[in-house]
Amino acid sequence: MKNTTNYTQFKFPFDDILKPGVILDGRFSRHDTWGLDFLPIDELVKDDVSKFFEEKDLPLKNIYFMYGPAQESLVIHVDGFVEENGTFHGIHCGLNWIYGSTNHVMKWYSSDTVGETSVNKEGLRRTRWSASDCVSIEELTIAVPTLVRTDIPHNVVNFSNEKRFCVSLRFADITLTYQQVREKLLDYILI
Ligand SMILES: [Fe+2]
Repeated sequence: MKNTTNYTQFKFPFDDILKPGVILDGRFSRHDTWGLDFLPIDELVKDDVSKFFEEKDLPLKNIYFMYGPAQESLVIHVDGFVEENGTFHGIHCGLNWIYGSTNHVMKWYSSDTVGETSVNKEGLRRTRWSASDCVSIEELTIAVPTLVRTDIPHNVVNFSNEKRFCVSLRFADITLTYQQVREKLLDYILI
């Protein structure tokens, strides 16, 4: 098994997670910029997939549905959207399926700087870095279901002329770390 720090690849006992007839394209009004939407699980994902993760003691919370335009890089950031009792929690990880473009990478970085934290119009908070303050430490073209760390600086680069869509399953227990989720899915790690 490849010894990775920031991602784990899986083979699950189902071929796809999307409900029959679900179309991912056309869900964002702008196609020239990166898009993120929060969707209920049952809007895109089959019931037996939700049940599978429930049985693994990993009930799902929602979907981060992301759109990546052709030939674009996403800003380097950490996911830190959730507020609980006045505290913003970093979201440690997501379980990703990628559709559309096949020529893209997710990259992880280290940085000596704290980045710049801002709150968007929906009251959601995230921290971002400029590329010049970061050093790339790992990268992956996601081609199979992959658990990815989202609590250290990361971004996505879409090299192709195709749009990239990411269906990222997020867990009900937002305090679970990448390692804790990984432990619950050990039987399905792709070797
Ligand atoms: Fe992210």
